[in-house]
Amino acid sequence: MNLTKAKYSGFCFGVKNALDTVNNLKGDNIYILGELIHNPQVIGKLKEKGIKILENINEVDKGTIVISAHGMPDSVIKQCEGLNVIDATCPLVKKVHDISKELEKEGFTTLIFGDKNHQEVKGTAGNLKDCLIVSSIEELKTLDLNKKIGIVSQTTQEVEKFNQIVDYVKDKAKETKVHNTICSATRLRQEAAAELAKKVNLVVVIGGYNSANTVKLKDICSRITDTKHIESADELKEEWFKDKENIGITAGASTPEWVIEEVVNKISSF
Ligand code: F3S
Repeated sequence: MNLTKAKYSGFCFGVKNALDTVNNLKGDNIYILGELIHNPQVIGKLKEKGIKILENINEVDKGTIVISAHGMPDSVIKQCEGLNVIDATCPLVKKVHDISKELEKEGFTTLIFGDKNHQEVKGTAGNLKDCLIVSSIEELKTLDLNKKIGIVSQTTQEVEKFNQIVDYVKDKAKETKVHNTICSATRLRQEAAAELAKKVNLVVVIGGYNSANTVKLKDICSRITDTKHIESADELKEEWFKDKENIGITAGASTPEWVIEEVVNKISSF
């Protein structure tokens, strides 16, 4: 059995930066607003260190509060006044916030291509008076697009689907302004995963089930070849690898290297 890792996989710089920031904090009363990154093992380790994950800023009135890599609306960060605020928002997410606010100033309605329930999208939308959020062409069909529309994307979406959304909107809107804000880390991992999937009999995608970019890697690979999405080595089943000669491994941008290594070691032992 041959194991090949995708050219690009695992931690991106935004996730690494957020995690380093938290790991370098000293003292008690350290809180993270929302999940720092979408990976259960990393969150588990932070909790073991005594760091608490908050759903709501009203839950604390003293201590250090870390804004997660996915970002928060400006209004929420403002509510943290009085606390020691450490903003670990990925700079590329911040860029989407800035572009969206600028589009609004220019008189465009911002259309965000993304998952309305994802923290990053809520953060971007939360800074705008009005916006549209769609995750598919089907959803677009239900909207009035006869206006000036500025398009941005959640950083972890699929490039191909973003382009389809843009084509559809361009056809219906009065005027469009397009910013492809899918980040380079996402793009490189998606391209590398697709390239790998073409060469192997099975791809194992490693990462949180709630990690948007990991789920996209799974979607991309499963259109090409047999694909399994797991969070940890414990979920591997030996029977998946029966009669498979070439196995590919990829991992989302929030999956730590040690989790990837555990998976590789277990597959190698089969
Ligand atoms: Fe940032 Fe992209 Fe990673 S937006 S957190 S570099 S997946």
